[in-house]
This record gives sequence, structure tokens and C-alpha cells, in this order.
Amino acid sequence: MRRAAVVLLALLGALTACAPVENGTAMTTTVIPAPVSQTDGEGAFTLGRDTVIGGEGEAAAVAEYFAQSLRPATGYDLPVGTSGEIQLVIGASPAPGGYTLDVEPGGIRIEADAPAGLFAGVQTLRQLLPPAAFGREPAEVDWSVASTRIEDHPRFEYRGAMLDVARHFFAVADVKKYIDDIAMLKLNYLHLHLTDDQGWRLQILSRPELTEIGASTQVDGGGGGYYTQDEYREIVEFAASRFITIVPEIDMPGHTNAALSAYPELNCDGIAPQPYEGIEVGFSSLCIGKEETYAFLEDVIGEVAALTPGPFLHLGGDESLATSDEDFLTFIARATAIGARSGKTIIGWHEMGRSAELPAGTIGQYWSFVRPQGGTAEHTLSFVEQGGRVILSPADVAYLDMKYDPTTDQGLVWANGPTSVTESYLWEPAEVIRGLSEEHILGVEAPIWTETLRTIGELEYFAFPRIVSIAELAWSAQNPGTAGARFDDFGARLASLQPRLEAEGITYYKAPDVPWRD
Ligand code: ACM
Repeated sequence: MRRAAVVLLALLGALTACAPVENGTAMTTTVIPAPVSQTDGEGAFTLGRDTVIGGEGEAAAVAEYFAQSLRPATGYDLPVGTSGEIQLVIGASPAPGGYTLDVEPGGIRIEADAPAGLFAGVQTLRQLLPPAAFGREPAEVDWSVASTRIEDHPRFEYRGAMLDVARHFFAVADVKKYIDDIAMLKLNYLHLHLTDDQGWRLQILSRPELTEIGASTQVDGGGGGYYTQDEYREIVEFAASRFITIVPEIDMPGHTNAALSAYPELNCDGIAPQPYEGIEVGFSSLCIGKEETYAFLEDVIGEVAALTPGPFLHLGGDESLATSDEDFLTFIARATAIGARSGKTIIGWHEMGRSAELPAGTIGQYWSFVRPQGGTAEHTLSFVEQGGRVILSPADVAYLDMKYDPTTDQGLVWANGPTSVTESYLWEPAEVIRGLSEEHILGVEAPIWTETLRTIGELEYFAFPRIVSIAELAWSAQNPGTAGARFDDFGARLASLQPRLEAEGITYYKAPDVPWRD
């Protein structure tokens, strides 16, 4: 029913297509996510062999990132100095997280009140350059950028992706590639789902069996793997160089077979279960009544918090089907209190909102559907009632591991899938949960679960292009057009991204609902 309605709306909208509207005037842009405003000027700036990229103080590192991103494709030296034809300036932003970008024949200037805004401006500029700018080999092209002025800022402060490294393990190099992939889209958080029934992926020095035993498996076998603490720090630092904050998730009290298999005392019967390589959910639980469980949490949370510079610690709480209601509430109150004492702001999946004893400011992550099922909206609003905000990840539109259509190899369908690119884009965050207003939405996140996905190429194929939909919903202002007009506009910009994805070497699905260039 829902799918039929979306397709019908798209068809109707196609008849009345128009560009997005800024203050009543049509705006033409190829940039994705769409900027707040873009006004084209006369002429063009041409990057040449002698171009210098300027940036002082906090702007210098962003200038260096930009130069590094362009050196392979241009073959130019692109030295970074305090002042250059392309100048990055710490000054004012139109709004938090934003930037202004001016391209004139004489030079390019990006201004923002913080380096993160400059970085966002640089991502926009990379898209204004010829697609070859994303390549790794010197290309003989005219490196011109048409004159334009862009004023831009994000709609939501949290723009996330989640990667499940528990069901299948992904090496540090894969995680870094995914970080680069999402940085291009102005996403600024990467949530790592580090533990689940099938594997524990982060070294905890005080609990070595978590990785000695708990990291040895993954779905369907083939070994597992884990990040040493140094490797985790390397991921955190690499992400920070792209203005992305890592959010570690230690899922509990369910989704814990890997931990239970490593430490028998976490089981109520004191017997460690076998490691698990299937894809069922909801069968495992930490033993709620034993003090050993909370000693374990103190150790794990203490180390994860100390390793993580970002403000958030995700403590899961989803699908605890093997935990009684009473035990769940007891556990969540204690676990979140331990988490809060570590100095982090706790995030929990929406089920955690069943508890009325959350630390003030705990963030809820909603993963039911665009039309909330059962009590999920109520549980999500409970975070707001307790002083927190909400991250929206409606599974039927934002879960990137759903099949695109029934013929997609791999992928799942349980979340009202398959999920087309059109469906991933045509929803409005402020309309998912009645009573959840704009200021209560911290942001939007696109999770990718990996029961069926094993390689970075498979991750990218499932993510691209649907992750671009989620990035645009997270960054860009609400588009007032009809559904059809909105998707036409988005699809045209997605098509502009295509040669850039190819130059960058990102695997993507040529979805039939997108007007690809070739
Ligand atoms: C979830 O999909 N269980 C968060």
C-alpha cells in the first residue's frame, strides 16, 4: 500500500516538476546535499599549476586536506600557505556548522566560524570542480569552477552513518574508506556497532577474553577479528581529520552472546554458551541479577569512554527479548548510570525509552518505521520527556542493508523492504513521530547492518546511492515541493554525483529510479 502511494506521488509530481525554491526563486544547483542558497555569477576561476591554497591557524589543516585531495588528480603541487588564490578563512558562518563559498574569476574564498564549516565548504567545492577532481591519476582537464556564491548550513547537527562491524568484521582500511565516502556527503558522525551476538570487536584490556574468544567468529564463519585499542584510536583520529566523530556502541543487555561466551560469570547459570554464527536475534541476555554483570560494565564502559574523545556512548538496549520487562528496567537504570558517570552522553535504541530513569539528556535512536509501530513513538518521546533528544533512523527508509528490489543479491527485507532510492528520499524527519518537534530532533542516521555483507564493495553498493538520500535529509532544508518535484530535483543532482563516485572508486547501485548520466 505504502509503496504504491509513493510511486503514484512520484508520477504525479513528475508532471509538475520544478527546482527547489529559495525565497520564492528557483535555485539551480548540482551540489548534493543541496545547499541553502546558490547564486551564479559571471565567468569562472581556473585552478592552475601555480595555484596556492591559503589557510592560517585552524584553517591550515583543512587547506592541507583540500590540497591533498586534489594533488593526485591535477598532478599539481598545490602548496598550502597563509594566503592563496583559494583562501580558507575562519570568520563568520551563516548558522552553526555552515559556511559561505565565493567563486570569482580572481579566486575562491570559503569562510566559516569553525574548521568543520570550512571542511563542509571544501566538500562543496570538490563537487563544483570537474568530476576528475575525485580521481587518483593526473587528468588532462580544464580545472575551472563557474563563478557562484553559496551560503549553506546544516539542518541537523547530528548527521550519521552506522556500520555494523559485529556481524561481519571490517578491517581498519575498510572503515577508513567508508569514512571518506561519508565525509563527501557532509555526514559528521560514524556510529560503530562494535558488539553483538556474533562478535566482540574492540579490545578491552581488563577483559581479554572478550576478544580472545568473543572476536573469533562472525556470521557464517570465516573467522572474525577485532580492533586493538591502537587501531580504534587510529580510526577515531582518521575520522576526526574528516570532522567525523566516532560513536561507539556496546549493545546490551541483549545482543550479547559474544560476551556471554567469553565470560561464564555473566550468565545466570554460570555456563558460557557456544560462539554464534547465525543471524537470529533476541536470544541472549546478560544476567541482570548478578553483581558480576555491573563490574563487567564498569570495566568495559570505563575503557571505551577513555578511548573515545567524542561526547557519545551508545549502550544499545534493542531487542532484549530474552530479558524480562522488570529485569530490563532494572538493567537500563544501572547501565545508563554507569555510562553517565563515565562523562559521556548516553544514546540508546528507542526501547531504552521504556525506562523513566534515564540520565538527563539521554539520546534516543528511533528505528521503527516511518509510520511508528506499536509503542515505539511513545518510547521515543520518553527521551524528550527526560530532557534528551532523538536521532531518527526509520528502518524502512534509512536501513541501508535492505534489498533495493526483490532481485538484489544479498540484503534483507524485514523492514518493509525492498527499499528503493525513491523511498529512501521521500520522507520528512519532522513528520515521523507526532509530538516530536524540530528542536527535539538531534539528527538523522543511516545504519548498515552486515548479516549478509562482507566486503567494503558490498557496503558501498548497498549504501550508495541511498546514503545520499539520508545525508540530504540530514543536511538540507526541508524542500517544500511536491514529492515528485523533490525526487526529480534530487535525482538530477544524484546523476551529477555519478561521475564523481566513479572517479573516487565508490561502488554503487545503478538504481532504475535515478536518471543516471550513463
Ligand atoms: C535494531 O535494528 N535492532 C536497532
